[in-house]
Amino acid sequence: KNTKKVKEIIERYPPGRQQSATMPLLDLAQRQIAEEGSELSPPVGGWVPRAAMDHIAEVLDVPAMRVYEVASFYSMYNMAPVGKYLLQVCTTTPCWLCSSDDIMKAIKDETGLSHNYETTKDGYFTLIEVECLGACSNAPMIQINDHYYEDLTYKRMVEIIQALRVD
Ligand code: FES
Repeated sequence: KNTKKVKEIIERYPPGRQQSATMPLLDLAQRQIAEEGSELSPPVGGWVPRAAMDHIAEVLDVPAMRVYEVASFYSMYNMAPVGKYLLQVCTTTPCWLCSSDDIMKAIKDETGLSHNYETTKDGYFTLIEVECLGACSNAPMIQINDHYYEDLTYKRMVEIIQALRVD
């Protein structure tokens, strides 16, 4: 499906440096899986299965281990299936001082999720507690898939979850 895009990405790099395309190709694979997964019941969010990593290694003509190393090092790549919406809650000091506990409680109350990488049975939500996401001036905040939600309150977090659930 993404063959043309893969070619375009590889061509961004000088000959012999195709390994530099590892990260954008992992991202592309994760997004393709999210797109296909959103049609499933229950839905599945973006993640990178081993078959995708092996395929990337083959396309780039590098040892598979080189791709596994990158994918497992960066937290933006999910190494196991996640829900349609990945709730990344920042609980580092500035967010914590601005009541990230309330945000966690709102998520727990609305979804029943309470620990890292737990996914709701309906496949909609996966919870992860993360370190600072660089939006401290608008704490408390959360990242959901590609989007930041800032200056949150318990009430606002509940509203967001309810809105996503009907999406
Ligand atoms: Fe939460 Fe920086 S501490 S975004």
